[in-house]
Amino acid sequence: MSSYDVIVIGAGPGGYVSAIRCAQLGMKVACVEGRETLGGTCLNVGCIPSKALLHATHMLHEAEHNFAEMGLKGKAPSVDWKQMISYKEKTVGQNTGGIEFLFKKNKIDWIKGWATIPEAGKVKVGDDTYETKNIIIATGSEASVLPGIEVDEKTVVTSTGALELNKVPKSMVVIGAGVIGLELGSVYSRLGAEVTVIEFLDAITPGMDAEVARQFQKMLTKQGLKFNLGAAVQGVTTKGGKATVSYKLRKDDSEHEITADTVLVATGRKPYTEGLGLDALGVALTERGQIKTDAKYATNVPGIYAIGDTIEGPMLAHKAEDEGMAVAEGIAGQHPHVNYGVIPGVIYTHPEVGSVGETEETLKAAGRAYKVGKFPFLGNARAKANFAGDGFVKMLVDAKTDRILGAHIIGPMAGDLIHEICVAMEFGAAAEDIARTCHAHPTYSEAVREAALACGDGAIHV
Ligand code: NAI
Repeated sequence: MSSYDVIVIGAGPGGYVSAIRCAQLGMKVACVEGRETLGGTCLNVGCIPSKALLHATHMLHEAEHNFAEMGLKGKAPSVDWKQMISYKEKTVGQNTGGIEFLFKKNKIDWIKGWATIPEAGKVKVGDDTYETKNIIIATGSEASVLPGIEVDEKTVVTSTGALELNKVPKSMVVIGAGVIGLELGSVYSRLGAEVTVIEFLDAITPGMDAEVARQFQKMLTKQGLKFNLGAAVQGVTTKGGKATVSYKLRKDDSEHEITADTVLVATGRKPYTEGLGLDALGVALTERGQIKTDAKYATNVPGIYAIGDTIEGPMLAHKAEDEGMAVAEGIAGQHPHVNYGVIPGVIYTHPEVGSVGETEETLKAAGRAYKVGKFPFLGNARAKANFAGDGFVKMLVDAKTDRILGAHIIGPMAGDLIHEICVAMEFGAAAEDIARTCHAHPTYSEAVREAALACGDGAIHV
């Protein structure tokens, strides 16, 4: 029987990062993964393939809308869907292959198959049982589908099916105006599908700073997405390759139906821990079915840890990665810390949305005195040159100390710009610290600095 210091179950961003960190810290490591390729949901059927399609369709959008004005004449490109899918697959392959290389480099054994945990200290895969001092559960999440909806991944799809449709649908209904719904809704809208988003709440992207969410909805509407808010989906039926969604408007209980070629169900995700044997082991769960862990990601069963989408907190690849490193360092006797107050969230539409920390709503609810510094991208020279003047940077700071409490960016490269503010927040910076830092001209980053200036004596270019 092979024996290890650590066996990580699951090779998504949480699991593979954890395995690498364990190996770097001198442990003998194996990682169990049942998929054909490493990288989990994120690399295979999530973040990476969706970003490939977002990139390709953004290029199409640019060609259709902005090329002529820049003097780039000619017909806009037509879409070869098969080729776009194969570009997406190639991108996935390069990334999953990269993880395989990293495993070899770090001498991590990839045990292929699906794991169960017969008892603490043992992991079973197929007919083989492996001994290990520690087990890290990093099995991720799966789509949480509403009752009354049957997903066939052809007409009624989750994000997985939406990434490999046979053809571009003429019409698509998206259930849920969260991150998945809006990113994939954008992709198909840019490809010419008529996209209608049905959302239970009265606003899109729950939890986002409300002003940003409103602006975001306006921009997406301008791009052609239709929104049906305050609408509770009751069920979906399929007939002749089409699907009909029935929903009730919450304001008056009136019942409605909408039919489309494809229905994307994007109503959240839930931990995927099936088949591990957690029940028999007595691993404690939260009310929402997440694995309960302490500050070092230990479960109530000694020697078994859990991270990422299987535990509490935002279901984000980068949160899982941070926990993956932290759990490894904790097992190695170090004292790691993940700062949950500074975990950025990004929506990779165009424009992008990037946020971190408090929103105006959470600050108001906490009764905290704060100031807002805002700067529109219209005042940013680079953004104007690049047809990217829509949106703004919004910084929220403590009214007395000027310490940055949160920031929200809607605009070009928001997902990259947000990190300057994350680093500042990790250092406990005030807006003035960013405002007094020289920023290269002409860059989008200047808009971040201007928002910081707006927290003090005022932005310059507005
Ligand atoms: P989500 O939690 O972001 O949004 C789900 C939406 O569905 C909510 O707005 C909710 O109110 C709505 N909803 C629920 N029941 C409904 C009903 N009966 N009728 C109408 N609307 C209903 O979930 P989503 O978009 O499925 O994403 C799952 C997870 O994956 C999230 O945690 C998300 O953060 C993560 N993710 C992150 C990405 C990123 O960071 N760029 C990309 C994709 C996913």
